[in-house]
Amino acid sequence: MTIPEPPGIERVLFTGDQIRRRIAEVGSEISEHYRGKDLKLIAVLKGSVYFLTELTRAIGIPVKIDFLAISSFASQRSSPGVVRIAKDLDEPIEGEDVLLVEDIVDTGLTATYLLRTLAGRGPNSLAVCTLLDRTSRRLVEVPVRFRCFEIPDRFVIGYGLDYRQLYRNLPYIAVMKPGVMADQSGAPARPPTASE
Ligand code: IMP
Repeated sequence: MTIPEPPGIERVLFTGDQIRRRIAEVGSEISEHYRGKDLKLIAVLKGSVYFLTELTRAIGIPVKIDFLAISSFASQRSSPGVVRIAKDLDEPIEGEDVLLVEDIVDTGLTATYLLRTLAGRGPNSLAVCTLLDRTSRRLVEVPVRFRCFEIPDRFVIGYGLDYRQLYRNLPYIAVMKPGVMADQSGAPARPPTASE
């Protein structure tokens, strides 16, 4: 079934085929890197779920998965990047090789908070794998070990990424028209980095 393109889309950045091909490459890299290790992939709900499922199928070594959910208060200018864990992991990660799976690393504040939190739980190793990387907006350095695509400084939707909880199910990644995102309540034309 083809999902009709929502009206707010400016252009498709990556098609479903391009995304799957790139994830297959990154999955192979991960398999090589972690061969013989106890690999656990930790995905951040909800945006990373689409990426996680495709990625795990592209990894040829045994993996475990677990999930975190966060509440982000990034839209409050007084406290940028303040993140709270809304749903914690089901299992401990002590002694495991942990890969934090992100939909997008933007300012880097969320990933930095999560890395700091996870590091305190004694994993054997800890690294970041992201579907999208927007280094042009980075505020704090994030050690991204595996990345599928670097993207320009434009708000994107699809393949798990939302705008106000919509569009996650688009099978491609698209750039939104800036005008569509400005609303009557004075919300910024560029949405805050809300990530739940
Ligand atoms: P960071 O803390 O600024 O790196 O933001 C990370 C979170 O912001 C991501 O996990 C996304 O949920 C959200 N985000 C940042 N940019 C976009 C975008 O272009 N589209 C949708 N969500 C985004």
